[in-house]
Amino acid sequence: MEKILLIDDETDVQYSFRRIFDSAEIEIVPANSGEEGLKLIPKLKPNLVIMDVRMGGISGLETLRRLRQTDSKLLVIMMTAYGTTQTAIEAMKLGAYDYLLKPFDIAKLKEVVASALKAARDMRQAVSFQPLLESEDYEQGIVGRAAAMQDVFKLVGQLAASDATALITGESGTGKELVARAVYHNSKRSTQPFLAINCAAIPENLLESELFGHEKGAFTGATVQRIGKFEQCNHGTLFLDEIGDMSLATQTKILRVLQSGTFERVGGNQPVSVDVRIIAATNKPLEQAVAERKFREDLFYRLNVVRLAMPPLRERRGDIPLLVNYFLQKYARKHGTPPKVILPETVRQLEQYPWPGNVRELENVIQRALVVAKGEAILPADLPPEITRAVAAPKTEAAPAATVPVTSAPAAAAPPASPADDIQPLVRALFLWARSRPDCKLIPAVERELILNALREHRGNQVHAARMLGITRATLRKRVEKFGIKQELQVK
Ligand SMILES: Nc1ncnc2c1ncn2[C@@H]1O[C@H](COP(=O)(O)OP(=O)(O)OP(=O)(O)O)[C@@H](O)[C@H]1O
Ligand SMILES: [Mg+2]
Repeated sequence: MEKILLIDDETDVQYSFRRIFDSAEIEIVPANSGEEGLKLIPKLKPNLVIMDVRMGGISGLETLRRLRQTDSKLLVIMMTAYGTTQTAIEAMKLGAYDYLLKPFDIAKLKEVVASALKAARDMRQAVSFQPLLESEDYEQGIVGRAAAMQDVFKLVGQLAASDATALITGESGTGKELVARAVYHNSKRSTQPFLAINCAAIPENLLESELFGHEKGAFTGATVQRIGKFEQCNHGTLFLDEIGDMSLATQTKILRVLQSGTFERVGGNQPVSVDVRIIAATNKPLEQAVAERKFREDLFYRLNVVRLAMPPLRERRGDIPLLVNYFLQKYARKHGTPPKVILPETVRQLEQYPWPGNVRELENVIQRALVVAKGEAILPADLPPEITRAVAAPKTEAAPAATVPVTSAPAAAAPPASPADDIQPLVRALFLWARSRPDCKLIPAVERELILNALREHRGNQVHAARMLGITRATLRKRVEKFGIKQELQVK
C-alpha cells in the first residue's frame, strides 16, 4: 500500500482526494497544516507528499524547505491556485517533483500522481547487485550467474564507487534501467534524488524544455517559467533513457552540462549551475548514429568512458531457470501466496525460446502463466502460443513422471542434478510461509502435514505411506499418535 500525505487545510480538497485515490493500493493521509505534516512524516514514511502552496501557519514553500533539511528524496507535488504559480515554480527549484493548478483536471492529477509514485518507487526500492536470490534488505535484485553478468556486477560495483558518467547499452528488456538504479542505490548519491527520463517518449521540441526548463515567453505557449529536470535533480542522479533519440541541439546542451556543469533555460541567458550525475542508456547502436551524423561524436566519447553492455537473454540461457524462480518468488510475495512450481518441461521450452524482448518478456510470460495456470504447477500449456510454436516439442522423450519443481541448476532437458536442488523452490516457499507466522515450528508442522497427506494418498495404508515417507512403519505409528492424526483421518 502506498501512502500519500495530503497537506491542505481545506476539508473539501481532502475529501475529493480521498474519493479519487483511496483504494487497496493507495491511502490518503490528511494533515491540516505544514507543521502537522512535518510532524507526521517520520512515522508515516509517506511515498509522496501533496501540499498546498498557501495554508494557515507556515507556507507550503517553508514546509518544503524544512522537509528538505532532513530528507532530500521525498517526492513533493505542490498545489497552487492562479496567482501563486510563481511560488510553486520556486518550489521546483527546491526539488518539488511537479505542481498542479487548481481547480484540478482530474485526468492530469491522476497522471502526475502515478508518475510521481513510480519515481518514488525507483528511488526507494533498493536494487541488489550481488548475485543473490533472496535478501531481507533488497526488494529487487539483478539476477544472473552467466559470465557476462559477472562482468556487469563488477562494473556496477565500480560505477557505484565513482561519480563517472556511464553509458548502458543493450537490447530492449535486458535490464538497463534496473542496472542504472543499482548503480544509484549503491553510490554516494543514494540519499539524493534519482529521476528517470525517457527521451524517446517526449516529443523532440519539448524534450529540451523538460530537461533544462524554459523562461516565461521563450516560445508560444510558454506562459510561465518552467524548471527542468536538471535543476530539480540537483546533487542527484539523472537517468537519460533512450539517449539515441535526442535532437542535436539538446545533445549540445547535455555536452555542455557534462563539461562545465552549467546550462541556460530555453529562452534564457542566465547560466544555471548544477551538480548532476548522468547515467545514459540506449538500445540503438550509437556508433552508427555517430557515423550518420545523428549523434554528436564528442558527446558519444564523453558518455562512452564507462560502457556497460547488457547481454541479451538468449546469450545467457543458463540464467533462465534462475530468473524464472526469481519471478515466481517475486509474484508470490506480491500476492501473498506460496510460489507455484513449474514443470521441468515448461522450463525447457522457456530455455529454447529466443527471447527478442529479453528479461522483460520472460517476466511478462511468467506473470501471464501464473494467471492462466489452474493448478499448483505451471505447465507448457500455460505458456503463450508464440513460445510453444517456436519451440519444437521433443518427439521421443517421455513425459516427466512427476510434477517436480524447476531446479536452479542451468541444466536444460537433463533430469535435475540432485533431489536436493530440485526441492529448493518448495523449501523457499515454506520459509516464506513460516516467516509470516512468528510462532510456527516448521519441522513438526511440515512433518505432520507430510504424514497426514501420505496416509490420505494411500488410503490409510501405513506400509505404503511409510515407504513413501522413507521412515519405518513403527516410526510412522508413533508420529500418528503424537500428532493425533488418527481422528483427522477418520473424520474425512
Ligand atoms: N537480471 C535481471 N534480474 C531480475 N530482473 C530483471 C533483470 N533484468 C531485467 N529485469 C526486469 O525486467 C524488466 C525490464 O528491465 P528494464 O526496464 O531494466 O530493461 P531495459 O533494458 O531498460 O528495457 P527497455 O530498453 O525496454 O527500456 C524489469 O521489470 C526488470 O526488473
Ligand atoms: Mg528501459
